[in-house]
Amino acid sequence: MSDFAELSVEGKKYQLPIVVGTEAEKALDINKLRDESGYITIDSGYKNTGATKSAITFLDGEKGILNYRGYSIEDLAAKATFLEVAYLLIYGELPTAEQYAEFEGAIRRHTIVNEGVRTIFEGFPVNSHPMATLSSLVSSLSAFYPDSYEGKDNSDRHIIRLLAKLPTIASWSYKRAMGHPMNYPKNDLDYCSNFLNMMFSLPVEKYEVDPVVASALNTLLILHADHEQNCSTSTVRLVGSSQANLYSSISAGISALWGPLHGGANQEVIEMLEAIKADGGDVSKYIDMAKNAKTTGFRLFGFGHRVYKNFDPRAKIIKKAADEVLAKLGVNDPVLEIAKGLEEAALNDEYFIARKLYPNVDFYSGIIYRALGIPTNMFTVMFAIGRLPGWIAQWKEMRAAKEPIGRPRQIYTGATLREFVSIENR
Ligand code: CMC
Repeated sequence: MSDFAELSVEGKKYQLPIVVGTEAEKALDINKLRDESGYITIDSGYKNTGATKSAITFLDGEKGILNYRGYSIEDLAAKATFLEVAYLLIYGELPTAEQYAEFEGAIRRHTIVNEGVRTIFEGFPVNSHPMATLSSLVSSLSAFYPDSYEGKDNSDRHIIRLLAKLPTIASWSYKRAMGHPMNYPKNDLDYCSNFLNMMFSLPVEKYEVDPVVASALNTLLILHADHEQNCSTSTVRLVGSSQANLYSSISAGISALWGPLHGGANQEVIEMLEAIKADGGDVSKYIDMAKNAKTTGFRLFGFGHRVYKNFDPRAKIIKKAADEVLAKLGVNDPVLEIAKGLEEAALNDEYFIARKLYPNVDFYSGIIYRALGIPTNMFTVMFAIGRLPGWIAQWKEMRAAKEPIGRPRQIYTGATLREFVSIENR
């Protein structure tokens, strides 16, 4: 294969270097295109734009492959702990037993959150959406740790702090909404059990973490942990490219994740399934509405993906886990049947087949979260806890590579130069 592609514009030829990744992904390098030709490229939604070279996650949307640092998602979900995966993503290799003990131990020691952050939290309305408080409080952490932006190279300490404190902050929303006293972390518990304990234990009775619940949570967090250059991750890298500190960059990622077309879809899915159930459970009516999205404005949440055009490997694992977890917990959730009916109807429908629309990670995750006792408005928070190591890894990679500040161009379509008209003459 040639090392260059040739572009011909207005009779002139330009050579664009070809870049090939380790999994044979191919790209045209247009870094010099504007300098040489005066042309930029337009790619709304960045559907064809490679924003970076990255060694973290490989994803093949046609074949339904997702690997973190070369390890398949199926293997990691079945065999690893979430913190092993976090270490893998952030530092590039699975930790040795010694490295893991140090990493996990450091996270255990940093779970407590400054009481000042809690004072800020208490100023929010009681029923604030947990994603609103999460992104605000993560941003506020930079005020508590000013060395995060004072130019010292101590990002490892902030990485540990973020991983340790996010579950603590997340649990506050639930406790406050319930009107229950907030729990402090218990550092003798592992990562998932500690979160569950902060969420569900009460001072008035004994609470023991159900290992089935902790294990299901571990799997879900691993499935969320990274997904290469998606909307929230690109946001983290873009914000970080201005050399904004880690807390601010992650806070921006949390905000991006909240949108219903991204991580917010998991909340929308359960609300949609509930609405179908309340409406008599007729899935075909909703399939028809989705097929006429242009007039109804209705989309099947949890369906479709920008990158996966065959199946989402995370959805496959989650669907199987949903059956297992609900059976083990003895939960009979009628929306699981509605979800399966909807999936079957959609997968056999010409509209969905033609557009390659399959269930994505969010389609079944809410059903499991619900079985674990997580309230619907916290589903996207769970996604954020899972995605945190991926965001951190991508931020760290971008900074280590000294990537330039992100600054896309545009084609201007507004008015051309005109003279100012004073207000009395308009
Ligand atoms: N229901 C009905 N029609 C759909 C759906 C859907 N969920 N998704 C896409 N389409 C149609 C869309 O109307 C369009 O049809 P046409 O060609 O006739 O105009 C076609 O499929 C292509 O859609 P698109 O919006 O151009 O595709 P995209 O790659 O830009 O969007 C998506 C991807 C995920 C935003 C979109 O599929 C969607 O809105 N899905 C529902 C929200 C959702 O579940 N999001 C979670 C994504 S997975 C978690 C994550 O990583 O964020």
